[in-house]
Amino acid sequence: MRDGLGSAGPGTPGDQPADDHSGPAELRIRDGRTDREYVLPIDAGAIHATDLDKITAPVAGADRAEGLVSYDPGFANTACCRSSITFIDGDQGILRYRGYPIEQVAGRISFLDVAWLLIHGELPTEAESASFAAAVEAVPELPAPITAIVDSFPSDAHPMSVLLSAWSALSAYRAEAKHVDDEAVRMAEVPRFLAWIAALIAVVFRHRTGRPQAPAAISGSYSARLLGSLFPERGVPDASLVRALDLLLVLQADHEQNCSTNAVRSVGSSRVDPYSAFAGGIAALYGPLHGGANEAVVRMLHEVGTVANVPALIERVKRGDGRLMGFGHRVYKSYDPRAAIIRATAEEVFRVTGRNSLLDVALAIETVALQDSYFVDRKLYPNVDFYSGLIYEAMGLPIDTYTTIFAVARMAGWIAQWLEMIADHEQRIARPKQLYVGPGRRDLPS
Ligand code: CMC
Repeated sequence: MRDGLGSAGPGTPGDQPADDHSGPAELRIRDGRTDREYVLPIDAGAIHATDLDKITAPVAGADRAEGLVSYDPGFANTACCRSSITFIDGDQGILRYRGYPIEQVAGRISFLDVAWLLIHGELPTEAESASFAAAVEAVPELPAPITAIVDSFPSDAHPMSVLLSAWSALSAYRAEAKHVDDEAVRMAEVPRFLAWIAALIAVVFRHRTGRPQAPAAISGSYSARLLGSLFPERGVPDASLVRALDLLLVLQADHEQNCSTNAVRSVGSSRVDPYSAFAGGIAALYGPLHGGANEAVVRMLHEVGTVANVPALIERVKRGDGRLMGFGHRVYKSYDPRAAIIRATAEEVFRVTGRNSLLDVALAIETVALQDSYFVDRKLYPNVDFYSGLIYEAMGLPIDTYTTIFAVARMAGWIAQWLEMIADHEQRIARPKQLYVGPGRRDLPS
């Protein structure tokens, strides 16, 4: 969430020059254990964690000194990279892709153009946009054994489990992609990632819903082809639904160092091939605290059923019996700007599909929660997953396939973040430290 170099102060980056600081950009520390003083440089609002290692103190009972480490389970206050892709100000509810506010991007820029923007840093020209779309469309079909892998799973297996397995198998079919240090190889693979994630979730969907595995010959935008391949029996997809799907993909395309992106960067830092790195992202996204929340929200809404049952749900959550799914965020301590856009889109979709009555339950939950001190004090607001599932449900997607759509969207961000990480000479293999709290040396019984 920090801005790039040179703008370490508060405020919204890009809107104003760096703050004038009255003192030098350094942190002065006195270590009470040794009474020694240290000066650590501050760079872009951060100290370097490795500088802490210079702050040493003798280890009790041992003839050695140990450097200080920072303890941060869940990386709540640790910047793991410099990134120029996505900016979030969680207090003000600001999200920007490459500097462009999400409110301006959503609904105006297509998903593929957003993917280009995230990857290249600038919006594509008309020619670049057309040739990128053509490159994605020209990607060969998935290798046939990948479809066979999907079909080998029980039809009631969770689509994210199946997607994860089949996606990771793609690594075995793209030996060329292993040359991650070759920029030309990396960039040549980009259209394939985007084409194959969409093709694969359609294969998984058809398997899950008992539809024949015949690829649909739908033309049009990326989202039109995706929707058409999910529901070939519906013919040309409804333009409003295509727009809504494209918007959902755009809104979920990147979100800086979220759990799955961190997984992609971490796995990719070993210089493994990108298919394997993105498999790490898919696995992380599957979790109910991350992308799996869209499914959990709709299950929760079905369970609640009616507006009359909302107060009981809120009381249950406040007692610590489960979480209010689709609420809360590590970074946003105000309304998630994506949730506001999706809530407005839901009404548009329902004009085509018929109103999903669970929207009233969701709206009632939001109203009650936002007036309740439990949620207010903890700054828990609806997040991107709170309303997205309702749209997927209205489109006719089975509940356990929602997160696969999120995976298509986030692939754009994973690609951009992986490319940035590979090219960043400051990045090393991800290898955090630990605080060892286990037993000291002891001997096996003789
Ligand atoms: N319902 C009830 N209480 C909550 C919730 C919630 N949804 N989220 C946080 N809290 C409480 C939590 O119990 C804790 O209370 P206390 O201080 O009394 O112990 C406090 O708020 C702080 O929570 P935390 O777990 O320390 O916060 P975190 O930043 O580690 O977790 C989160 C962030 C998104 C995992 C969490 O808010 C959550 O579990 N939300 C529900 C799942 C969800 O909607 N996930 C989607 C996230 S957004 C999109 C995405 O990533 O896919």
